[in-house]
Amino acid sequence: GICYGMQTLAEQMGGQVISSEHKEFGHAEIAVKTDSILFSELDKTLNVWMSHGDQVQDIPDDFTLLASTASAPIAAMQHDSKPIFALQFHPEVTHTESGKIILENFIFKVCNARNDWKMDDLITQRIQEIKEQVGDNKVLLGLSGGVDSSVTAALLHQAIGKKLVCVFVDNGLLRKGEAEEVMQTFKENMNLNVIKSDSEEAFLRHLKGVEDPEQKRKIIGRTFIDVFDAEAIKIKEVHFLAQGTIYPDVIESSGSESKEARVIKSHHNVGGLPEEMKMDLVEPLRDLFKDEVRKVGVELGLPSDLVQRHPFPGPGLGVRIIGKITKERVRTLQEADKIFIDILREDNLYDNIWQAFAVLVPIKTVGVMGDQRTYDNLLALRAVTSVDGMTADWFKIPDSTLAKASSKIVNNVKGVNRVVYDITSKPPGTIEWE
Ligand code: XMP
Repeated sequence: GICYGMQTLAEQMGGQVISSEHKEFGHAEIAVKTDSILFSELDKTLNVWMSHGDQVQDIPDDFTLLASTASAPIAAMQHDSKPIFALQFHPEVTHTESGKIILENFIFKVCNARNDWKMDDLITQRIQEIKEQVGDNKVLLGLSGGVDSSVTAALLHQAIGKKLVCVFVDNGLLRKGEAEEVMQTFKENMNLNVIKSDSEEAFLRHLKGVEDPEQKRKIIGRTFIDVFDAEAIKIKEVHFLAQGTIYPDVIESSGSESKEARVIKSHHNVGGLPEEMKMDLVEPLRDLFKDEVRKVGVELGLPSDLVQRHPFPGPGLGVRIIGKITKERVRTLQEADKIFIDILREDNLYDNIWQAFAVLVPIKTVGVMGDQRTYDNLLALRAVTSVDGMTADWFKIPDSTLAKASSKIVNNVKGVNRVVYDITSKPPGTIEWE
């Protein structure tokens, strides 16, 4: 049992769970109290990642306490005779030090599973599944140029060749110069069949005046589908829509099998989809995490700068412009974002960061430039480390880089007079601001 799993397990076996005053989100230090096969070959103090408000207060009978934190005295426990283990912290997230070893101890030493799974098997299996699902039919793929849809394109290309038609939607919410770059990479360098759909007007029209993040995501998801449907009619006889959906999109949109999971945010390609879809979905990466998708990309021979690109969300700058979206605000953010990313590249930081971007905040603050008073927008910079996007920590950007970015943005981007840096981990924050 992990997190809620430990709590429900404790309740069901006669223990007690309470709502704690000391909630733990993000980093915590556990002290291992008792030797256990789960912690074999590990230190007695471990840095782990927590995300809970409730906690086990009384340990059930026949269980032994394994580990504690300062706020959660019962942070891990084990049954005295049955192979039942429970952890309040998350061993599955990358910010838990040695989490992988804890899971390996469980899988190989407790469950006695064999370690015989290989990435090539997955690729062969997925290609076979795609062929079985779509047969001789044409498939339309929403290609954004990001890692997930690019790897999906490469897989589908191997599986069905010319029957794949990619549609790249310029929704007006892309980064500066992105549309041109994507078209060049895929059409000219990778020889894929790519159609560009210029849909800025439709997206901005549907988003006009909308401020609520969930509403924005749903509108963007629906508009993407409208565009794909319209393109499918032009291409004729397309029954399948392929998407680069990955597992975190499914978890956070609560699109998994569980009816009880809470929506964190409706990822445009899962929770943002309309109820009635005209085309059937093909989503070969739906159960993979980003780091696994990157490995598939490398195996399939995609260029490394494409595979290592920072993730970019489908709703694009739409969820980085807090509040109303206008053409002018898109342009302001595009300029600022480009300056920030270029500086990270110049200072050789880009590849050490999982994702970096700028966010336009609908707050105006007072400034002074020359002898003039200014009253302009606040811009936030965000850069995080992560492996799978499920947890993240803020990246310690050197002062000199932050200073350069702040000064260049305020001096060159009209409408921005103040820059702040976001130092929130996930949890409790999310990576994107909306
Ligand atoms: P959050 O903000 O949930 O983001 O911590 C985790 C990762 O997912 C990306 N993201 C999305 N990707 N469609 C996507 O394709 C979406 O609707 C979406 N929302 C967030 C985000 O950029 C980060 O990499």
